[in-house]
Amino acid sequence: MDLREYLDFAAQTAHEAGRLTLGYFRTGEMRTDFKPDDTPVTAADRQAERLIRARIGAKYPGHTVVGEEYGAEEGTDASHRWIVDPIDGTKAFVRGVPLYSVLIGLEIEGTCEIGAAYFPALDEMIYAATGEGCYCNGRRTRVSSAETLEGGILSFTDAATFEKRGREEAFRRLRGAAGGSRGWSDAYGHALVAAGRVELMLDPVMNPWDCAPFPPILREAGGYFGDWSGNETIQAGEALSTPSTLLPEVLRLIEG
Ligand code: IPD
Ligand code: CA
Ligand code: CA
Repeated sequence: MDLREYLDFAAQTAHEAGRLTLGYFRTGEMRTDFKPDDTPVTAADRQAERLIRARIGAKYPGHTVVGEEYGAEEGTDASHRWIVDPIDGTKAFVRGVPLYSVLIGLEIEGTCEIGAAYFPALDEMIYAATGEGCYCNGRRTRVSSAETLEGGILSFTDAATFEKRGREEAFRRLRGAAGGSRGWSDAYGHALVAAGRVELMLDPVMNPWDCAPFPPILREAGGYFGDWSGNETIQAGEALSTPSTLLPEVLRLIEG
């Protein structure tokens, strides 16, 4: 199967689900429920995931699907696994902050080969397939050409999570080395690294659906997406992205 066909499908489906979420965004008609882990969820999250599952089921009926709101649905073809977050950044979404996204990734034989991240309120789509390059709204995009972190920008989501995960010392060292830092990122921080707008995105709390599109997106943009030890993965419970040239410096600072 041509990877481009999967990529077109992922991007088109993320776009369609994203347009659905805009029907709720900033309308004031959104009830927020809280899940057992105390994180927010809305009708838009659920409807968007149902739409994505319906599209995958119609086009690739045997494939496995894993989504944040409706869990894992094993298909007859376990080698193809779609990993879906219908709204990444629900806290942003419910507050009317336009940095939330729809994330769709496809793992083939355990490797993330396809990724589409759509930011509906910005109408920005960043997407990649292995060997096909990384694109943002149709234009080829690459990571920053910075050769050191000095002067670069570090991005993160919630400063409190570093302490909770015992990563505050590493966070402090990385912040000291970078030229500055900015918060409120969610998946947008990884997209910013792939687009060359910031040099490092750190998140010490990650589920596979929070980041499935980003291994191919960063790889194809000349960067790294993976755990805090240099392994490309979405399963580590933590993640960082950075240009490949900066990875050795970032890992040295993490180790202290
Ligand atoms: C959250 C975002 C955030 C990460 C959290 C996730 P949600 O996802 O991905 O960046 O730090 O751990 O829960 O709940 O907004 O889809
Ligand atoms: Ca998420
Ligand atoms: Ca979510």
